[in-house]
Amino acid sequence: KTNDTNKTNRKTEQLEQHSTSNENEKLTTDQGLKINNNQDSLKAGERGPSLLEDFILREKITHFDHERIPERVVHARGSGAHGVFTLTKSLAAYTKAKFLGEIGKETPVFVRFSTVAGSKGSTDLARDVRGFAIKFYTEEGNYDLVANNMPVFFIQDAIKFPDLVHAVKPEPDNEIPQAASAHDTFWDFISLMPESMHMIMWLMSDRAIPRSLRMMEGFGVHSFKFINEEGKVHFVKFHFKPKLGVHSVSWDEAQRISGVDSDFHKRDLWEAIESGSYPEWDFGVQLIPEEDEHKFDFDLLDPTKLVPEEEVPVEIFGTLTLNRNPDNFFAETEQIAFHPGHIIPGIDFSNDPLLQGRLFSYTDTQLSRLGSPNFHEIPINRSINTVHNNQRDGHMRQQIVKGKSSYEPNSIGGGCPFQAMMSEGGFTSQEERVSGAKVRERSKSFVDHYSQAKLFYNSQSEPEAKHLQNALIFELSKVTIPEVRERMVGQLAYIDRSLAEKVAKKLGVQVKKLEQPNQSLPADSNIE
Ligand code: HEM
Repeated sequence: KTNDTNKTNRKTEQLEQHSTSNENEKLTTDQGLKINNNQDSLKAGERGPSLLEDFILREKITHFDHERIPERVVHARGSGAHGVFTLTKSLAAYTKAKFLGEIGKETPVFVRFSTVAGSKGSTDLARDVRGFAIKFYTEEGNYDLVANNMPVFFIQDAIKFPDLVHAVKPEPDNEIPQAASAHDTFWDFISLMPESMHMIMWLMSDRAIPRSLRMMEGFGVHSFKFINEEGKVHFVKFHFKPKLGVHSVSWDEAQRISGVDSDFHKRDLWEAIESGSYPEWDFGVQLIPEEDEHKFDFDLLDPTKLVPEEEVPVEIFGTLTLNRNPDNFFAETEQIAFHPGHIIPGIDFSNDPLLQGRLFSYTDTQLSRLGSPNFHEIPINRSINTVHNNQRDGHMRQQIVKGKSSYEPNSIGGGCPFQAMMSEGGFTSQEERVSGAKVRERSKSFVDHYSQAKLFYNSQSEPEAKHLQNALIFELSKVTIPEVRERMVGQLAYIDRSLAEKVAKKLGVQVKKLEQPNQSLPADSNIE
C-alpha cells in the first residue's frame, strides 16, 4: 500500500449525486411501478401467445435491445480509474493554468488506458500502442491530455489518419486479424510510409507489450504551448513516469497470458487499486522557450520526433495517483469523452498538423458514439465548475435552464449568460503571427525520417534489440506479399543495415535499395 488518500474529491462528490444503489430495493419499471413477477410474461391462457399489452415485457426487452453504443473507432478497449493530480513544484513561471500554479494543489482526474487497434473485447496483451488519456477536472474547466505510452506517432499529418487506421484494423473482407498488426495491409501501408519508421521501432520494441498499465510511461506526443501571466510562451512536451518503473513482458509471455487471461491488464489495475496499492506517476515537462523553436535539427511541430532528454531534461512538477475504481464501467470508462481540444488558459496548441486535425476529430466522433450534442452533460463528462451558455435543446438534454432568453447580444436579459470581460479571465488564443501561401506541401523541416529511428534502435540493450528484431521477423512473416516484405526490409536498411540483413535472412528476401524510399510524398515532390 503506497498511499491512503482514498478521500472523495470534487469530481467524485459530484458523481455521487448521480449514483444510485439497488441494494435491498424492490424491482420497478422505468416509471417507478413495482414489479411482482419478473419471471413470466402476460399470456392469453397458460399455454397461449404473449400479449402485446405486456408493457413490462416490452419495456424490459426494448431497453435491452438498445444497450449497445458504437465502440470507439480507435482505442475501443479500455480500463479507467479516478485519481488525483498533485502539484509538487510550481509551474506559474511558465503557465497561468491555475492547477499548475500553487504547490500542493490537488485536481481530480479520470484516466483511461487503452489499446488502439483491437475491438472492445480484444486481448490486453496485443503488440500495440497504449492510450493514456487524462481528464483533469480543474476549476477553470476540463483539461484533457489525450496521451499515448510512446512519445512519437506514425504519421506527420492528420489527413493520413483514416488510411493508417484502415490499414491496421482487421481487413475489410474477412475482419482478420483482431488486435494485431501482423498482416498485409498494415505492413503495405507502413512500407510506403517512411515517416512511420521511428514509431515502428517503438512499436516493435518491448514498449508495445507492457507488463502492467501501472508500469508504462505517458507522453503528450505533440509540442504544446505554455503561456504565463506576462504572455511569455514556452513549447512544452508532457511526460508521465511510473513510480514502479517501466516494465514489459516478452512476446512469448504475452502470447501465453493472452490465452489464459485476456483481461490481464484490466484485472491488474483494478486489483491494485482495490487493495490500496495506488499506481503513481511523476508528471514531468520539457520546456523550450519560444525563441529556441528552430534550434533543433528536427521540427518541434513534427510528431514523429521526440526532444532528446539529453538536450532538454524532463523536470518533475507533480504526481498523478489513481486511487478509486469506477462504480460503473459503462457510465464512466465507456462514456467518458476525451478531446485534445479541451484546454484551459495558460495552455495552447502548437501548429503540429497532426494535432490540428485531432482538434476536429474527437467531438465529431463522439457525436455519433454518444449520440447527442449534449454528451457533455453525462455525469463523467461534466466539469466541476458549472456550465453557463446559450446552447439549448438537442437529444437527451438534461439541464433545465430557467429564464426567457438564450442569445447574445441581448438587451432584455431574461436569464441568459453574457461573455466575460477580458479582465475577468477566460480563454484567449495565443496571439501568434502567421503568414505564408496557402499550400498543401509539407515543410522541408519534416523530411528526415530515419535519424531518430536509428537513435532509438541504437539505444536498445542487446536483449532489447534482439526482441525488436524478432518482433519484425514475426510480424513480417505473416505478410503474404513478397514485395511488401522486401520494401519493409529496404526501409529498415536506412535505419540499420545489419538489422535489415537479419530480418531479410529470416524472411528469405534480399536487402535491395529502394528506388523511391519516400513513397508517402507526391511523385513530383521536390522535397527528397
Ligand atoms: C481516441 C482520432 C492521433 C491518442 C481517438 C478517437 C478518435 C481519434 C476518433 C476515438 C475517440 C472517442 O470515440 O471518444 C485521432 C486522430 C488522430 C489521432 C484523427 C490523428 C490525426 C492520436 C495521437 C494520440 C492519440 C497522436 C496520442 C498522443 C488517443 C487516445 C484515445 C484516442 C489516448 C482514447 C481516448 C479514450 O480513452 O477515450 N483518437 N487520434 N490519438 N486517441 Fe486519437
